[in-house]
Amino acid sequence: MVNERSGILGTGHSYPNGILTNADLEQIVDTSDAWITTRTGIKQRRKAAPGEYTSLFAVRAARQAIERARLDPADIDLLICATVSPDQILPSTGCIIQAELGANKAAAMDVVAACSGFLYGVTLADTMIRTGQSRYALVIGAEILTQYVDYSDRQTCVLFGDGAGAAVLGAVDADRGILAARIRSDGRYEEQLYSPGGGTRRPPTAETLAAGDHFFKMKGNELFKVAVRSMADISREVLEEAGLRPEDVNLFIPHQANQRITDAVAAKLNVAEQRVYSNIAMHGNTSSASIPIALDECVETGRIKQGDLILMASFGGGVTWGGVLMRW
Ligand SMILES: CC(C)(COP(=O)(O)OP(=O)(O)OC[C@H]1O[C@@H](n2cnc3c(N)ncnc32)[C@H](O)[C@@H]1OP(=O)(O)O)[C@@H](O)C(=O)NCCC(=O)NCCS
Repeated sequence: MVNERSGILGTGHSYPNGILTNADLEQIVDTSDAWITTRTGIKQRRKAAPGEYTSLFAVRAARQAIERARLDPADIDLLICATVSPDQILPSTGCIIQAELGANKAAAMDVVAACSGFLYGVTLADTMIRTGQSRYALVIGAEILTQYVDYSDRQTCVLFGDGAGAAVLGAVDADRGILAARIRSDGRYEEQLYSPGGGTRRPPTAETLAAGDHFFKMKGNELFKVAVRSMADISREVLEEAGLRPEDVNLFIPHQANQRITDAVAAKLNVAEQRVYSNIAMHGNTSSASIPIALDECVETGRIKQGDLILMASFGGGVTWGGVLMRW
């Protein structure tokens, strides 16, 4: 059956109990709470304990989303896990989550699109539901980034944190749901944020491990500019496609990378501060988990009301970016 619109039926999130504060980082690397706060807005981030892994938090977030959608795991026929920090290379973390949930009817997979992964997953799920290929899709963004962070590199280690968020999508009435969704990438910017070691190009050896090739490397300044430009452009694009304006947006949920990036995008779009959601102080950058965690926090706190116009925009390593506009 072809459906006119898909929408979000339920959301959930989960993160480790462990907290890494700016004061903790001051003990590890040459940095200060004042520098991190003024340059990024981050005060703390969640950090998984040894033995905690990505799918653990993904499953908790997913169970909550499925329950809130009033469904059973067996109803899910598409399961997309967005992650750049999988449990292991094979099988996909999506398949591991599927088995743990008992979502046995689903086609499960991972999407690797860094911080845009959740919006990539939502865009794919939206298309699958509208074309009738899927009835109920579960999209998860889940990361344990603290395992890929080099705690001697003060530029990156202050930014990233751990967590998971999830959403269940299904067909909805035509007056609500996803109005426009767009995803993009440009692989020419690979070296702005990448992890060179551990794959077939640079297989893991004692040498690559000692060199820290499996850690994230980043050109922060350059990425900052690409982030602001791409998120503002894709936001305008989805708004134009839906025939709406930035002034119509009730809540803007950008990828939580840096408060200064959020402020710059909001200023470019002319979206007032009180209509922009930020949890960067509490979570730092959780990559693909950042938007679904933020979305679920907004649902839980009543920040999103029925009929609200929600704009979500992201960018990340690849580089990738995406925008989704929906009526709640
Ligand atoms: C990384 C980022 C916070 C750095 O902020 P910035 O204002 O651009 O800072 P710069 O890189 O210009 O560095 C300024 C100075 O601060 C220093 N610095 C960098 N990190 C520091 C830290 N954690 N603590 C203290 N000083 C730090 C630099 O060494 C530099 O010192 P210098 O002037 O003596 O050379 C910022 O560029 C950023 O957020 N970029 C986007 C990154 C991102 O979002 N990545 C994820 C993509 S999803």
